[in-house]
Amino acid sequence: MSESEANFYHDEQIIENPRPYLDAMRAKCPVARESHHGTMMVTGYEAALQVLNNVEGAYSNACSVVGPIPGLPFEPGSGSICDTLEVHRAALPWADHLVCFDGKKHADHRALLGSLLTYKRLKQNESYLAELANRLIDGFIANGRCNVVPEYAHATTVFAISDLMGIPLADRSELLELIGAPPSQLDGDAVHKIGPDPLIFLKPRFDGYLRDRLVDPGDDLMSELVQARFKDGTVPDFDAVSALARFLFGAGQDTTSRLIAMAVRILADDQALQARLRSEPGRIGDFIEEILRYDPPVKVVYRLALRDTDVGGVPIDAGTIVTVALGAAGNDPARFAEPDALDIDRPHVRDHMGFSRGSHGCLGAPLGRMETRIAIERLLARTTRFMLSEEHHGPHGKRRYCYEPTYTFRSLADLFIEFD
Ligand code: HEM
Repeated sequence: MSESEANFYHDEQIIENPRPYLDAMRAKCPVARESHHGTMMVTGYEAALQVLNNVEGAYSNACSVVGPIPGLPFEPGSGSICDTLEVHRAALPWADHLVCFDGKKHADHRALLGSLLTYKRLKQNESYLAELANRLIDGFIANGRCNVVPEYAHATTVFAISDLMGIPLADRSELLELIGAPPSQLDGDAVHKIGPDPLIFLKPRFDGYLRDRLVDPGDDLMSELVQARFKDGTVPDFDAVSALARFLFGAGQDTTSRLIAMAVRILADDQALQARLRSEPGRIGDFIEEILRYDPPVKVVYRLALRDTDVGGVPIDAGTIVTVALGAAGNDPARFAEPDALDIDRPHVRDHMGFSRGSHGCLGAPLGRMETRIAIERLLARTTRFMLSEEHHGPHGKRRYCYEPTYTFRSLADLFIEFD
């Protein structure tokens, strides 16, 4: 199928395996217009870096989560769209959340969170993560099989971020249910309904947690967040703090859960690599970095060109949505030799863009890495061998997997494994 026939934002074959489409786009040009929604698709490493670093402030993050599908609520004219964007910004999907903020507002709010996710706090959380993984494994190991996505990956990340944030124990299982799978991105109507605050359903609950901590602070992240001040000493608005807490909760679990599931999938299908990591657990970190390059949980992020600009010499008009394909950048042969091979011995294994780059680069990367490492370490330590269930995924060489219908994330819907 040619690029003009294939639709990145819609086709199930691309959701199942985005690699051929993205390779074809890169071969055409690392910065090329995609035919269906007119976005500029960036698939080359250097070009992606240039957009994400946004040195000249040519891009906004206003549409960074859902990209082109809902369409802009205004018609970009010629020249800068800065003023028009400000008039319409509040109506855009996810507009109330950090990842879509720009400029000073973004820097100020990001700084409130940045001071919370310290190395010391993560270190304190490390033993909890190992206990949690053991407890979850206890829940399924005797069965000789499990569905990794809900029973291990998703449960690990929801409980881990809940513990760090200080969500009461009694509420955690309910939150695990509530968060569930994301809505389909392939159903145009559902996407249109995404408002400026898709996490609004968590607001009463999180407002309550934060108010409790104003009166009775504990040693948790929400207690610190509710006391946090902007750099100039001013007090952030309560609703802004609530939005940050909810975004942190959301961002803190779904991406990491997808990475854990993908890591288990790869090891279950590659017994030699699994055996190697059992004997060299110190290399699990490199394995995780290599997945973030090879097939990362966040496939694409979006930027909106505020004015006429260019990437790698290709002109980008003001008002154009730029799709930065993080996984495609990580598979650019101009940057990574033999990109199609998952190679944990690759030099500069951390040079991927799995956590994005620039001022919006992932704030939770150290936590995501730690959670995934511990989940894999514990699973290897508690089993002698695990493999894919052929009943669900077919025989070796003819595997089939079900991915969630989203063009933004790379997200296994389920993953069935069996233990020896
Ligand atoms: C392996 C797991 C993770 C992956 C692959 C991942 C990926 C990403 C990516 C690609 C972005 C950038 C979005 C953009 O450029 O527009 C991002 C932003 C963000 N991530 Fe993560 N993330 C992970 C885990 C986490 C965790 C555990 C947390 C929190 C505890 C977190 C919190 C955030 C926040 C707050 C932002 C927004 C930063 C900003 O806009 O300034 N992430 N993440």
